[in-house]
Amino acid sequence: MKLTVVGGGSTYTPELVDGFARLRDTLPVEELVLVDPAADRLDLVGGLARRIFARQQHPGRVTTTADLDAAVDGADAVLIQLRVGGQAAREQDETWPLDCGCVGQETTGAGGLAKALRTVPVVLDIADRVRRRNPGAWIIDFTNPVGIVTRALLQEGHRAVGLCNVAIGFQRKFAGLLDVDPADVHLDHVGLNHLTWETGVRLGGPEGEDVLPKLLTEHGERIAADLRLPRTLLDRLGVVPSYYLRYYYAHDDVVREQRTKPSRAAEVAAMETELLRMYGDPALDEKPALLARRGGAYYSEAAVDLAAALLGGSGSPYQVVNTLNRGTLPFLPDDAVVEVQSAVGRTGANPLPVPAPDPLFAGLMAHVTAYEQLALDAALRGGRDRVHRALLAHPLIGQYDRADALTDRLVAHNREHLPWA
Ligand code: G6P
Ligand code: MN
Repeated sequence: MKLTVVGGGSTYTPELVDGFARLRDTLPVEELVLVDPAADRLDLVGGLARRIFARQQHPGRVTTTADLDAAVDGADAVLIQLRVGGQAAREQDETWPLDCGCVGQETTGAGGLAKALRTVPVVLDIADRVRRRNPGAWIIDFTNPVGIVTRALLQEGHRAVGLCNVAIGFQRKFAGLLDVDPADVHLDHVGLNHLTWETGVRLGGPEGEDVLPKLLTEHGERIAADLRLPRTLLDRLGVVPSYYLRYYYAHDDVVREQRTKPSRAAEVAAMETELLRMYGDPALDEKPALLARRGGAYYSEAAVDLAAALLGGSGSPYQVVNTLNRGTLPFLPDDAVVEVQSAVGRTGANPLPVPAPDPLFAGLMAHVTAYEQLALDAALRGGRDRVHRALLAHPLIGQYDRADALTDRLVAHNREHLPWA
């Protein structure tokens, strides 16, 4: 089996490689190709990847290249995990929205729109090249904003599934609190990427007993503290929101905080410098502990599970992924991309039925879905008016003058990535 990672020079890659090495019975990778335009990073990351495979006596080989077409030739699956403009562009996304009193975040709000505009054309171009060379390959998209990027891919008819680690993170956390095997924890997970709620926590599978009420009673304090939301809010919601919901439920608090401390991008950039220095050490042959301070925990396990299921191996039959709604949430368009439990196999991902969500959650999902549709339109067709429409549609923005000021800033900070600007 040949697997290609686009954005293979990412400092996250050792997390992924560690998973491929440990879980080789689930996903027998024969060749792992890391492709990236940044030769220096690719060298450092590729070297460590080879040492991780060697330490674990993995029989597969790791190759590196800047040539995308060669890299995807014959690949069974292509994982896309790139970041157009790097942490520098992310830093902008996290900063200028604050001028207008809006959250500065890489996937939520105006910063997320900027990221979508930079990213969608690049990912679509890569996907076209994959399809031309290799029409049967699966694309696994981890590139943010995953909901919008996956919608773009599926709208163009690509064989693609979107992936995020929020659900697997909750699965592992709840398993720890309940003291059970993570594989026995089935989440009722509903929403859009980075806009999800755990509405049930079942033991054993989709039909298992729902222990969420017990979990909230016994561990509500801890769960709320990790999300940095009040426990009383969780009790009132009766579900566990993802930490991205804090940008909605505590928007103004977050803005106040963000105004007084360095951006996450700045923190991550500092970590990346240190990580790359470590990756250059020929004695290092495992992922360093510092990587755990990044947000991508369990990403590799989710990716292995998904690739294994899509390629007909032994992945879990049900997985939380991003795929077409197709009536699952009847108040959203069929071609919206939702993040829900899905049956995953060789033919792709099919959402499991979801009970009608509380209007408290459904309303926000519908609102953000409309924004995502308009964001994709702006990413594909460009123009200030389309950017303004997407911003006006976003529940965290909504006012015309704010949308105008944000449009000006978005365009000013992203001109080099936007051919129409
Ligand atoms: C989580 C999210 C990812 C996001 C990451 C950011 O893993 O699911 O979509 O990219 O956090 O982590 P970072 O360490 O870059 O802030
Ligand atoms: Mn994510």
